[in-house]
Amino acid sequence: MIHKKRMKQVLLILVLFVLVFSVYKSISTDEHNSINLIYHDEFAEKMIDSNTDEELKLAQDKIKKLEERLDDLECRIPKKYETVKFLNYQVRKRILVTGGAGFVGSHLVDYLMKQGHEVVVADNFFTGSKKNVRHWIGHPNFELIQHDIVNPLYIEIDQIYHLASPASPIHYMYNPVKTIKTNTLGTINMLGLARRVGAKILIASTSEVYGDPDPSHHPQSESYWGHVNPIGPRACYDEGKRVAETLSYAYAKQEKVDVRVARIFNTYGPRMHMNDGRVVGNFILQALKKEAITVYGDGKHTRSFQYVSDLVDGMVMLMDSNYTQPVNLGNPQEHTIQEFAEIIKEFLNVKSEIQHLNGVEDDPQRRKPDISRAKKVLDWEPKVSLKKGLQLTIDYFRTELETQQLDVEHLDAL
Ligand SMILES: NC(=O)c1ccc[n+]([C@@H]2O[C@H](COP(=O)([O-])OP(=O)(O)OC[C@H]3O[C@@H](n4cnc5c(N)ncnc54)[C@H](O)[C@@H]3O)[C@@H](O)[C@H]2O)c1
Repeated sequence: MIHKKRMKQVLLILVLFVLVFSVYKSISTDEHNSINLIYHDEFAEKMIDSNTDEELKLAQDKIKKLEERLDDLECRIPKKYETVKFLNYQVRKRILVTGGAGFVGSHLVDYLMKQGHEVVVADNFFTGSKKNVRHWIGHPNFELIQHDIVNPLYIEIDQIYHLASPASPIHYMYNPVKTIKTNTLGTINMLGLARRVGAKILIASTSEVYGDPDPSHHPQSESYWGHVNPIGPRACYDEGKRVAETLSYAYAKQEKVDVRVARIFNTYGPRMHMNDGRVVGNFILQALKKEAITVYGDGKHTRSFQYVSDLVDGMVMLMDSNYTQPVNLGNPQEHTIQEFAEIIKEFLNVKSEIQHLNGVEDDPQRRKPDISRAKKVLDWEPKVSLKKGLQLTIDYFRTELETQQLDVEHLDAL
């Protein structure tokens, strides 16, 4: 009985202690907070006092400019997606585009998305940019993966368009070892993926597999084995692509992978790199800036330029065909570089001088595709005229230049 009474007393004391402690704690926290508030108020007052009117105005101006910049950036984010067709699950494909954030890849992505397919882009953004595909980001049919194809990729897909590789000389010569790895290890990884999941794969090869063509092989047809310097500055790309083709046919023969090989000739159009040293971009940019147009060598070497939408049509037709041998995709309309510089000058109505600089090592002298195979097996030929293609490309370059100028002005103002 006495023991129970003691217990009750002890419990009562404990409860009282807890009550007193919690009351004390709340009072001290309130005090602490109010001390803090007083301190902050005083600090703020001091700050305001120390700010002169001029400083305040400056800050307000900057905030205003930042707000305007924010509005401007928001305007560039599309609110709506372009219409995509509805395909039922039997015909809708899940398609991987490696290098899909690049120039050609992003146009291919647009085409496949609009057709109603599910598109997965794998890109390491070496030369590509999210900007090229940002208009699809968030769309339920679209997925963007930051991935270097030198490493394996494990996903489920029905088709692979394998485009990942730097394409312009300054980009592929920047890190020749990486260029070789991308075109060899990267291609093995993509062919391995195609084998594992039973996907059809199209390899983006290049007219560079013909190297600097022997004049007796002009225009270049698919039966020509090429004339490539295996240790020259372009070899990392040319030989890399030749190995990619060899790998494709080895996987086709040994592992029964369903391969397509597109030998792509010079292509131009919106979203091509502005400063990668390639002829079309260089000339347009120089003419728009009213600078001298620089031609490497005497300007007598030739190129044939195809517009990017023609290439995309050809690639899709090749993928969907049953034809497994390499197919040239290019525009056979051939121009000397000098002629091309004149065309751009005339087109933009500028008086830029044409300046000749030293020629480039191993630069192919003549380049023109023989597209009779593409005509025969795919019923494909380029449709877009040089005039129309140039207009669309110039419009793009002009807008890009204006945007860049705007960005610089905004940054300067801040
Ligand atoms: N544009 C042409 O005139 C032309 C001509 C012949 C062949 N091609 C071929 O077409 C393809 C696309 O060329 P493009 O002009 O769009 O070039 P691009 O440089 O604009 O695009 C290449 C894309 O591949 C990505 N990439 C590069 N290395 C990668 C890696 N290791 N892993 C993942 N992504 C990687 C880049 O970031 C970029 O987005 C290339 O394979 C190129 O060789 C293009």
